[in-house]
Amino acid sequence: MSKKKIAVFASGNGSNFEAIVKACVEGTVDAEVVLCVTDRPGAYVTERAARAGVPMVEFRPKDYPSKRDFELMLMHHLEEKEVDLICLAGYMRIIGETLLEAYPGRILNIHPSLLPAFRGADAVGQALAYGVKVYGVTVHYVDATLDGGKIIAQAAISYEGNDRDDLEAMIHAREHILYPEAINRVLPTI
Ligand code: GAR
Repeated sequence: MSKKKIAVFASGNGSNFEAIVKACVEGTVDAEVVLCVTDRPGAYVTERAARAGVPMVEFRPKDYPSKRDFELMLMHHLEEKEVDLICLAGYMRIIGETLLEAYPGRILNIHPSLLPAFRGADAVGQALAYGVKVYGVTVHYVDATLDGGKIIAQAAISYEGNDRDDLEAMIHAREHILYPEAINRVLPTI
């Protein structure tokens, strides 16, 4: 059977994109990353994609009259590459109904908190400001709610310090393990 095909959507650094590509190349995940999509042309993830030889779609949402229009454009690329699974990895945009309807149960997201705590933007900043002692990471299905879809995998991180850089490094390291694990749980179901 041919490998399942993954598209990763990212808006920034792309360290999770790279972790997913690495897991596929090394065979920890039995799939291949066939597309990298970014809504921020020139974001560092594009350098990572170029290095990994993964085709890219770079677009500016403001060049389109509506979300539906750019999601239709994205669907064209996803269909062309026969994508089975979309993994959001630091894609800082809410997925619209066009993509949700086209890929039901086939869009995942990683969020840097133990959902349902600290939904939305700057989850790490929210958790630090709250003064929690256990942080975490969640991979979940994407639905029409904000960070509210069914949870696939979670990991907790104990941290009592106050250094955001240290904490983010710990969170990222955990994400890079958890996302491939979550993909492995989902692959047999799609
Ligand atoms: C990750 O920490 C991810 O959990 C977060 O963005 C970062 C992207 O890092 N996503 C969200 O906050 C989504 N609400 P990366 O670009 O290095 O993969």
